[in-house]
Amino acid sequence: MITGKTKVAGVIGHPIEHSMSPPMHNNAYKQLNMDYVYVAFHVLPEDIGELIKSSKVLGIQGLNVTIPHKTTVIPYLDEIDETAEKIGAVNTIQFKDGIAKGYNTDGIGAIKSIQQYTALKGKDVLIVGAGGASKAIAFTLINEKIKSLTIANRSKENAQKLIDNIKKQTTFEKIGYQPINEADEIIGDVDIIINTTPIGMYPKHEVEPPIKTDKITDKHIVMDIIYNPLETELLKQSRLNGATTINGTSMLINQGLVSFEIFTGRKASYESFEEALLEQLNKG
Ligand SMILES: NC(=O)c1ccc[n+]([C@@H]2O[C@H](COP(=O)([O-])OP(=O)(O)OC[C@H]3O[C@@H](n4cnc5c(N)ncnc54)[C@H](OP(=O)(O)O)[C@@H]3O)[C@@H](O)[C@H]2O)c1
Repeated sequence: MITGKTKVAGVIGHPIEHSMSPPMHNNAYKQLNMDYVYVAFHVLPEDIGELIKSSKVLGIQGLNVTIPHKTTVIPYLDEIDETAEKIGAVNTIQFKDGIAKGYNTDGIGAIKSIQQYTALKGKDVLIVGAGGASKAIAFTLINEKIKSLTIANRSKENAQKLIDNIKKQTTFEKIGYQPINEADEIIGDVDIIINTTPIGMYPKHEVEPPIKTDKITDKHIVMDIIYNPLETELLKQSRLNGATTINGTSMLINQGLVSFEIFTGRKASYESFEEALLEQLNKG
């Protein structure tokens, strides 16, 4: 029941009504018997400054941030975590003692998902795509001391921008570009493949994978950050080749769990988030 003491957290975006975050967080509050509620706020880009001020006034505990506000919200924050600053995008804001502090838990979410299967230190990684999610994952992987990183992308220019950005802000040197249609040529040299493009996402899910899969074997871990469908064509072909596959629900759940802890100081169970997410996805 909502009481006079109920604490409020939420997610801001434009649009926002399809967000999976409210059911995940609310299910965890319920299971942990916490007096919290998590709501979706539709916020227009021009109102983002007012939103931060109002959230402080209302005593909001924390906000997740989604498209299109992840970068534009930064100037309105009081503090920003080091990795989020490097990434240049915030998906989590903690409000504490009048201070709004930004974090990025997308990259950590992806990394925790892979760490459920293998350690990252010393691994050769291929990321397909060079957009916002790719950037968050790339910076976080580097913190985990991977051996090399290759960015396969359609636009060389966009990949190069990301590579230059990483080289400028870190001491990581073993990073290179591969055209997306030639990505299969280096598959034998990598341990982990992560798709961050929307290729294969519902409703355009019946398409060829973003990269050729013939050279994927049982030595590979293949993650697709798409969570609808649960098994993309890339994951299906990789599984049939013997690879370990990870779908996008894992990243979504893990990023949410890290945000949950930032907002409440408590840990929620993976299962409490997963149960609510799968129920939503099954509703279609
Ligand atoms: N599971 C999760 O928690 C989670 C979190 C965040 C995002 N996502 C998903 O990740 C995906 C990407 O999100 P984002 O924010 O990174 O998007 P973004 O910034 O728009 O980047 C999209 C990337 O995909 C590439 N791309 C798009 N359409 C393509 C096509 N038809 N052929 C080849 N390449 C194409 C783009 O290549 P160019 O540079 O050549 O344009 C770019 O590298 C979305 O499907 C999103 O739903 C999942």
